[in-house]
Amino acid sequence: MRNPIIAALDVSTAEEALALAQAVAPAVGAFKIGKELFVAEGPDIVRRVRDTGAAVFLDLKFHDIPNTVAKAVTSAARLDVQLLTVHASGGTAMLRAAQEAAGDNGPLVLGVTVLTSMDESDLAELGIQKTPAEQVHHLAKLATTAGLRGLVCSPQEIAPLRELLPAEVQLVTPGIRPAGSASGDQKRVMTPADAINAGADWLVIGRPIYAAENPRAAAEAIRASLG
Ligand code: C5P
Repeated sequence: MRNPIIAALDVSTAEEALALAQAVAPAVGAFKIGKELFVAEGPDIVRRVRDTGAAVFLDLKFHDIPNTVAKAVTSAARLDVQLLTVHASGGTAMLRAAQEAAGDNGPLVLGVTVLTSMDESDLAELGIQKTPAEQVHHLAKLATTAGLRGLVCSPQEIAPLRELLPAEVQLVTPGIRPAGSASGDQKRVMTPADAINAGADWLVIGRPIYAAENPRAAAEAIRASLG
């Protein structure tokens, strides 16, 4: 089985990111580079993390006019990232443009549906009269109909989305906590094994790895827990 662990490089400097990446690379399948690190260090950090041999998930959540998003996806593909994110709420034309720019052999374009920081009243404020779960399903359908082959979802959405979507759609989930570890600010968490059993393809794991005393050992223990 492919290693499904994506270790989040949620640090602000290249030095910290590279030390973590080099220590952990053999024990994970990919690294997530998000806005904090990318804005601080630029595309060079992507190249340097790729040099560890691990795949890179560039989590910049593109949301713009279709032409701009397509060009951003092309630039990300040139950096040789394997996964990237766009907001599904950007609409069909934007999603199609992103997928076309990635092509069949480029990065896996993942749709982000509803941010887990938003509740029903936040959606109502935007003019959306749906529960977050209903809106997640609506946007998941929209994104996959537009051609996307992957989505980011919370652990609670894995099972319902698996029922709703074609089996080939890859589900990437944060909110993962090994049994017995601190949940921090994550309100609804799932263990790595439960998330995989529910149908997740990739697990985004931050603090349980980077804040561990021995990040490499923590990643290896998570891998071992998957059987
Ligand atoms: O430290 P922790 O394992 O909670 O990190 C999870 C990672 O996944 C962080 O990079 C966080 O920004 C991201 N994420 C999340 N929840 C979401 C979307 C992304 O925790 N709904």
